[in-house]
Amino acid sequence: MNNKSLESYLETACASLSYGEALAKLVLAAAKASIELAHLLAKSNLTGDTEKLSNKNVQGEYQMRLDVISNDIFVKAFKASNVVAGIVSEELEDAVIFNIEGNQYPFLVAFDPLDGSSNIAVNGIVGSIFSILPAPIHGAIDAQAFLQAGKSQLAALYVIYGPATMLVISIGNGTQAFTLDAATNTFYLTQANINISPQTSEFAINASNERFWEKPIIRYIAECLDGKAGLRARDFNMRWTASMVADVHRILMRGGVFLYPKDNKQPTKAGRLRLLYEANPMSMLVEQAHGKSSTGRMRILDIQPTEIHERVAVILGSEQEVSLIAQYHQLYDQQKG
Ligand code: AHG
Ligand code: MN
Ligand code: MN
Repeated sequence: MNNKSLESYLETACASLSYGEALAKLVLAAAKASIELAHLLAKSNLTGDTEKLSNKNVQGEYQMRLDVISNDIFVKAFKASNVVAGIVSEELEDAVIFNIEGNQYPFLVAFDPLDGSSNIAVNGIVGSIFSILPAPIHGAIDAQAFLQAGKSQLAALYVIYGPATMLVISIGNGTQAFTLDAATNTFYLTQANINISPQTSEFAINASNERFWEKPIIRYIAECLDGKAGLRARDFNMRWTASMVADVHRILMRGGVFLYPKDNKQPTKAGRLRLLYEANPMSMLVEQAHGKSSTGRMRILDIQPTEIHERVAVILGSEQEVSLIAQYHQLYDQQKG
């Protein structure tokens, strides 16, 4: 095999970054922990770890045993890496600070340890998502330190546990995909400088929420469904896996548009997905692959977060479709105004 390993890719790619050595250390720690998790996932149906627990997380969602196990694996790995000052996890109400005084370790990590965990019960695809932010250089570190716009991310990555385990990363110079060779526990570069085609005829949305959507989304999907005979003059295909990692991965590999829009199902929430550890890292990976990411009304990476677990509308993928959906939002807001 001539493919470059993750380790040797990082050695070269991080060489020009002032924080490069520490970043490589952090990514390799996440990669190693994800391999441990991949093994646990593979045998979870035998060990009984697929069980749903009776307690809810801060999101008000019932946890799976594997949500807790995967959270513990990554928290332990980040703490031991000695380059992470603190973490925010989907599964933990508060930020956890490893070195209270700050400025000792360069990074903060916000993460979703197990994305799409409802798929566990059906042996479906799940993933882990990580956003790497700079830690403040001066002063004490607390939850406030995580409230940085997504454009401040130093790196973003996810691991997808599918037929193959893959790690997809951007450190700000394109998006690269690595595939795990399970025989040697090594990730090898398999898709370099991913390029999301600007055009697509495939969309991903949970259509069962249609009655809760805003008008611009109803319009966009209706026009896709009209197919060849309609305004779009072509037939569209639809996919929905209920795992953002799996849906975004498909879009990075063959184009498409992913939508989890704002809806009035729970009007107090701005969307279903979480800004810090779902929307931001996925937006960086998509933008670095020449795609686009928006709430429909603004670029996701420009949002100034106000809470560590805040939610956001997410529309991302092929550039032309995301732009069209943003245009429909703009027209709708103008008419309403
Ligand atoms: P998580 O399992 O981390 O809570 O995330 C699930 C998310 C996301 O991965 C997916 O796109 C979406 O929720 C699925 O939502 P529906 O259940 O509404 O389809
Ligand atoms: Mn998730
Ligand atoms: Mn999760």
